[in-house]
Amino acid sequence: MIKILSVAFFFIILSESCLTLKSDWWEDASLYQIYPRSWKDSDGNGIGDLKGITEKLDYLREIGMTATWLSPIFESPMADNGYDISNFTNIDPIFGTLEDFDALLKKAKNLGLKVLVDFVPNHSSDECEWFKKSINREDGYDDFYVWADGKDDPQNPGKKLPPSNWISIFGGSMWEWNEKRQQFYLHQFYKEQPDFNFRNPKVHTAMLEVLKFWLDRGVDGFRIDAVPHMYEKILEDGTFPDEPLSGETDDSNCQDFLKHIYTQEQYETVELLYEWREFLDEYKRVHGGDTRVLLAEAYVSVETIDQYYGNGTHFGAHLPFNFNFDAMLKLPHLNARIFEETVSLWMDSIWKKHKMGNWVVGNHDLLRVGDRVGEERKDLINILVAALPGVTITYYGEEIGMTSIFYDCEDCLTGEERNFGRSPFQWNDDISAGFSSSPNTWLPVAENYKKVNVKVQRGVARSSLNIFKASQKLKHTAAFKAFKDKGGFSYGALNENVFQIIRGSNEEYRILANFGNKLETIGALLSSHKDGRNYFEYILVTCYSPHNIGDRVRLESVFLVPFETVILKKILKK
Ligand code: NOJ
Repeated sequence: MIKILSVAFFFIILSESCLTLKSDWWEDASLYQIYPRSWKDSDGNGIGDLKGITEKLDYLREIGMTATWLSPIFESPMADNGYDISNFTNIDPIFGTLEDFDALLKKAKNLGLKVLVDFVPNHSSDECEWFKKSINREDGYDDFYVWADGKDDPQNPGKKLPPSNWISIFGGSMWEWNEKRQQFYLHQFYKEQPDFNFRNPKVHTAMLEVLKFWLDRGVDGFRIDAVPHMYEKILEDGTFPDEPLSGETDDSNCQDFLKHIYTQEQYETVELLYEWREFLDEYKRVHGGDTRVLLAEAYVSVETIDQYYGNGTHFGAHLPFNFNFDAMLKLPHLNARIFEETVSLWMDSIWKKHKMGNWVVGNHDLLRVGDRVGEERKDLINILVAALPGVTITYYGEEIGMTSIFYDCEDCLTGEERNFGRSPFQWNDDISAGFSSSPNTWLPVAENYKKVNVKVQRGVARSSLNIFKASQKLKHTAAFKAFKDKGGFSYGALNENVFQIIRGSNEEYRILANFGNKLETIGALLSSHKDGRNYFEYILVTCYSPHNIGDRVRLESVFLVPFETVILKKILKK
């Protein structure tokens, strides 16, 4: 009897340890950002929509994605392309209806895809009913936004000056005068985006209701917009302190003119994230289902990321975005050593402590990766990112190497340069690249669409698309899965140009990337002679490669031509 019990006990222990090793869905997800205006237009008006997304969802499975995040689809006057929401619980007619959204979710569920939506809690549109009520000081809405009297203008008696020197992200004062209410309101972004007042508990309740509304419809989580901007410093006497000069620019209209010690990363933000996380966790406890996940948009240091993730007692965002690659990809002299430093910045702090990783290479606020690192290195980046542990975050179009559209911005509305990386997705070589049946799309289609599109690239063995698919497929094999406390992952620059990642514990994969435009021989760079004598097989090659899949080679004899990236698999002796 004792023997039987101890055997049973052994199996319980064993199955528990297996359970703890199993990752939750988001920990090694392949996340794809869809910019709904630009992905697929179903009704021929030149603007992408929900029906279009639903129609094309299978494509995400084809390229190995497991989840998608949709940029804002909510009712909006579109002063900031949907980041100015006028009704947080309805779909903008440009994109469709709530029923269209339900249909999208249904199809995604059938395909096994998670769907996350954008949550924009820092501000609303100035056309939002809440803001109109706040202007009129309606009961319950008086303090819904950040209002202030301003300072007396000594030069113009009776006139008011903004309450502080704060500068908005898009330039100019962060304060806008409202004639009707005879007060200034705060806007961290455009003046059409008034900031909510999170010191008012009613705003907390309103935001939790927004989360609940979309959770009840079945979303798998949220990308939280503009996290570090949620609170501003207010002194006990109700005034707002000026920010000091940064010394970085002489342009007093530009946000970089000041050091943002009072308008970003205030301590209350962390508590707000913990509040939302608790709400999501509780929702799961009550309603069951898979984990609902929070992504946090925050261009902050790893120390702040650490807090946004959690403090041991409380948890915040599952995935505060790792934007370190964004800064790195802007560097004109990017090389293997800088890549190593950037990976280490995350691995040595966040991964070490929390075993969580994510790698953002692009989004709608940035130029396309190829325009930042050079066309010849875009596949290299996609391959390396898929080989790192954690979550890959792919902005639509990066998988086929789309480029930014640099159209003349002379007549643009302010900030429209940000549209350069938002052009319509290139599905095929038909009219408007198959994005729309209309030749008039909301932004021009990139001129290279005849060559750079899904249809053409499906048929070219070493196209960006096929390389992307192959590396994503490997990412989801046992050898490439999150390694947690076990071995099976190492990385480093072998010299200025060559970066190496090693994955797998039973099997061994080497990912070798040449960042430079010189021929590199691996034999000369290996630390161990014994290692070099092992045989490897090419299992992934890029368009620059003179090698073929299936070629076999001794590690010490491997060479890389300029910008070549390959994945080799060790041939195990029988
Ligand atoms: C960040 C978004 O990515 C950006 O597009 C937007 O303008 C601001 N937040 C304001 O919502």
